[in-house]
Amino acid sequence: MARRILTGYRPTGKLHLGNLHGNLKGMIELQQEAECYFFIADWHALTTDYQDPSQLRTYSEEMVLDWLAAGIDPEKAAVYRQSDLPQVAEFQLYLSMITPLGWLERVPSFKEQQEQLQGKDISTHGFLGYPVLQAADILIVRADAVPVGEDQLPHLELTREIVRRFNFLYGETFDEPQSLLSQTPRIPGTDGRKMSKSYGNFISLTDPPEEIRKKILSMLTDPARRTRKDPGDPEKCSAFQLHKVNTADRLNEVAEKCRTAGWGCVECKGILAEKVVESLLPFQERRRDLEARPGYAWEVMERGLEKVKPLARGVLADVRTRMGID
Ligand code: TRP
Ligand code: SF4
Repeated sequence: MARRILTGYRPTGKLHLGNLHGNLKGMIELQQEAECYFFIADWHALTTDYQDPSQLRTYSEEMVLDWLAAGIDPEKAAVYRQSDLPQVAEFQLYLSMITPLGWLERVPSFKEQQEQLQGKDISTHGFLGYPVLQAADILIVRADAVPVGEDQLPHLELTREIVRRFNFLYGETFDEPQSLLSQTPRIPGTDGRKMSKSYGNFISLTDPPEEIRKKILSMLTDPARRTRKDPGDPEKCSAFQLHKVNTADRLNEVAEKCRTAGWGCVECKGILAEKVVESLLPFQERRRDLEARPGYAWEVMERGLEKVKPLARGVLADVRTRMGID
């Protein structure tokens, strides 16, 4: 088992069920057994959203509150904000010296995002250098392992390439970090695509029960079930993917009743909605308690910063020496 874990989230506002099951649950388990660094990647958010930073601060705070309410324990994990750790920026500068342009242009998300984020001009130095910044995030704490989703694997690979090049140029300094790929299958949103903030198909952890019920009722199901009497294939249904992580105790029954048209989709989704609502109740209650403590998220980030700072300073000092800047 890896000893030191790091992962970062872009502050995009409130977390949703896809974040919870895809990644956050894993982070909560990892903090029991490993040294954990969980940070708010606000510089990363700026690489694509520099035109409107007005929500960045609020989103960072919201995200920390969601983490804490979900079970991230600031006594165990260091929770901090990337931009509060200037060593990361300096480190990125050094890493950028040794990272060939071709490596960055080859990262799949570089082209993909430029095509997808049409309204935004991201033909920028900052966006191209995004994976170098990510490498700096990871290496500044010498993380052994990084929990990530599949889309982040190329970034991890690039970090490992940068490590090899750094070690080759300046002597053995860093170990290659491993990726910890989430075991949960991807959680679909209401429209069947991956649940994501940018698709607007998500169920937030803070959504009120009525909202959750409404969203779940609107989820895409197996199109073969046109009427109540048509049997379905649960594997072709988005709601069933959510059943998998919420209705473990009755999953066989749910699948059976779908295949045999033993019940209709409305009933099936109704049961799912109640499960989801019920499972989020304790989270939402803790979230409300935390909101009642103004400034608490910032206190937590300050404490996390104190934990990560000495480590970051040490690594950066080593890097500077090796690159002739001491
Ligand atoms: N790139 C990640 C994302 O878009 C966020 C991130 C930034 C990150 N730095 C990281 C994740 C370091 C893991 C490790 O979601
Ligand atoms: Fe999906 Fe349930 Fe309808 Fe089957 S019965 S298609 S699992 S909602």
